[in-house]
Amino acid sequence: MTHYKAGVIGWPISHSLSPRLHGFWLHQMGIEGRYDAVPVEPDELGVFIGKLADHGYAGVNVTVPHKQAVMEFCDRIEPLAKRIGAVNTIVVEGDGSLTGSNTDHYGFKQNLVQSGKITGDMTKGHAVVLGAGGASRAVCTALEELGFSTTHLLNRTVEKAEEVADELGGAIRPGPIDSAADLMDGAGLLVNTTSLGMKGQKPLEISLDRLPETALVTDIVYNPLMTDLLQQAEARGNPVVDGLGMLLYQAIPGFKSWFRPKEEPQVTPELRDHMLAAL
Ligand code: ATR
Repeated sequence: MTHYKAGVIGWPISHSLSPRLHGFWLHQMGIEGRYDAVPVEPDELGVFIGKLADHGYAGVNVTVPHKQAVMEFCDRIEPLAKRIGAVNTIVVEGDGSLTGSNTDHYGFKQNLVQSGKITGDMTKGHAVVLGAGGASRAVCTALEELGFSTTHLLNRTVEKAEEVADELGGAIRPGPIDSAADLMDGAGLLVNTTSLGMKGQKPLEISLDRLPETALVTDIVYNPLMTDLLQQAEARGNPVVDGLGMLLYQAIPGFKSWFRPKEEPQVTPELRDHMLAAL
């Protein structure tokens, strides 16, 4: 069995940027490996995962709509993925068993840390997270690790924010997205995890008037790279971090487990340009 075959499973999957990303590192490091986009229908998920080892996979990334459903087919789930309630990376172990983990939280956190723009002063304020969908749980967990003691989780459907707050525990305060303007006072960080602002979607309409100019503003949407939210924040002098880095950094743990590179995969301006060319 080779350790050099991996991929991303989803339904549909044709638009995934992950093959382009892993392909860049494989080529750069001269590793003889492959990383494919594999369409897997929801009905076939269990069978496909059950045969991962037999089919020579070192592991896979998992994307929409399988991130929750795939958990029951893993032999072990890392505690953080269990807490987030989603698996996006599976590693086939030496004995053929499957370990599921969540690297979205690592991707979000590393994107902020490596930008060099997040400071200790920001964590003295609270964080405001817009959106309570799949990505939001990973973001809330990462914010806690970054040192934010309070996170206001605001969503159009308040019940979903309440559910996430209940499940994750910690200092997450759920609320309606309409309360965002009030919660800007004293915030150290604002993040959009909704799909608003994405190419083809409505823009996120939110007033930043009361947001301190020192607060960091970030978006998990990366197409377009500079969303309306980031443009608006930058124009008033706030530090901003775009969302592309989250995609790039979340890929690192999987790449290392599957392809065993001699060096750490790097997120460089060349890699960013290579990815941006496909948007
Ligand atoms: P993901 O897994 O990427 O987070 P998702 O689970 O579909 O995607 O979540 C999308 C998020 O965008 C949700 O928080 C959703 O709000 P609801 O829970 O109320 O649906 C938010 N969202 C999508 N369209 C929106 C809109 N027009 N206005 C406000 N929020 C919106």
